[in-house]
Amino acid sequence: MGSEAKIVCVTGASGFIGSWLIMRLLEQDYVVRATVRDPENVKKVKHLLELPNAKTHLSLWKADLSEEGSFDEAIQGCTGVFHVATPMDFESKDPENEVIKPTINGVLDIMKACVKAKTVKRIVFTSSAGTVDVEEHKKPVYDENCWSDLDFVQSVKMTGWMYFVSKTLAEQAAWKFAKENNIDLITIIPTLVVGPFIMSSMPPSLITALSLITGNESHYGIIKQGNYVHLDDLCIAHIFLFENSKAEGRYICSSHDANIHDLAKLLKQKYPEYSVPTKFKDIDENLTRVVFSSKKLTDMGFEFKYSLEDMFVGAVETCREKGLIPLSHQLPSIPDADDKQAAIKLQVSEEVVPLPKDLPAIN
Ligand SMILES: NC(=O)c1ccc[n+]([C@@H]2O[C@H](COP(=O)([O-])OP(=O)(O)OC[C@H]3O[C@@H](n4cnc5c(N)ncnc54)[C@H](OP(=O)(O)O)[C@@H]3O)[C@@H](O)[C@H]2O)c1
Repeated sequence: MGSEAKIVCVTGASGFIGSWLIMRLLEQDYVVRATVRDPENVKKVKHLLELPNAKTHLSLWKADLSEEGSFDEAIQGCTGVFHVATPMDFESKDPENEVIKPTINGVLDIMKACVKAKTVKRIVFTSSAGTVDVEEHKKPVYDENCWSDLDFVQSVKMTGWMYFVSKTLAEQAAWKFAKENNIDLITIIPTLVVGPFIMSSMPPSLITALSLITGNESHYGIIKQGNYVHLDDLCIAHIFLFENSKAEGRYICSSHDANIHDLAKLLKQKYPEYSVPTKFKDIDENLTRVVFSSKKLTDMGFEFKYSLEDMFVGAVETCREKGLIPLSHQLPSIPDADDKQAAIKLQVSEEVVPLPKDLPAIN
């Protein structure tokens, strides 16, 4: 983006992706205005304030997607905006007002703030694979021309439906607004993001990604035919797309396609101390893999650095260090083998990780 002052705003700064992105931006000498809903919440901002260069290059700004005009101040004077924040309350009693509306109105409000600021050259919006592949019959390959079928989503109302609706409508509204107002918008579409992290609580996507270790079977459907990207690759891709003047449109960012059997094999071999299952009821042993193509991104010169093993080892090791998952399954002395499987499900501390019972794919 040329040699202008590198002042950028990052929304959703406290979260899994936002915080790692900020770490990488600070390393590259960007001045970062990080938005959070509650800058006083030490648990949510401590990891940001402790980052190298934070003292000189980072400031925290209070902003909420539900409050019109709340991003104006943070965005004024920025050359770029990374819009990462999204409401993730999938158990909401009022999904329309608590998830869907803030996601759509929030991105539009941020884009209006960019118009007002006059200094913003490009907006990078973190979209989601949920805008691409949620439909009745899976395609073998997905690319940037694909959109989820919202009639199907609304009729089935599967777990997480409001997330898929919110992200799809928000991205579509953003494209419309960008065209009408001549805004340089890039959307980046991650699949399930996995890797080491700096936030202190359990990242939502790892509840799904590590479900074979935690025994959270309600998530197996999501990783049945999964697609993955390393958190670091994703954040570097955000910066790559922000800086590359030739970038335009949507970009899928996904480096690995793996079905549940591939993942089980990898985790069982890497972590024999956990009781990772290898047989799954109602899942075909010869299940195909669904492909998410990042060709558009790699054709521009972007290179993924990490393997699937890197992603999962990074995630498991960080969760262990932070005490978010135990070091192994502790096998209780239960004589009845049938009860054993149930008993060895990991007890992740509710205090540290409020685990929703049936969380959808966060991608
Ligand atoms: N992780 C994945 O696998 C994945 C895959 C595809 C796409 N994505 C996309 O990546 C983005 C970040 O996801 P993540 O995994 O980093 O999730 P995350 O850790 O939950 O971060 C989301 C952040 O959004 C902020 N937020 C929530 N509601 C808000 C509101 N009303 N106003 C302002 N901020 C709000 C929260 O910050 P505060 O509570 O501090 O305000 C939270 O830290 C999302 O847009 C998501 O759709 C993620």
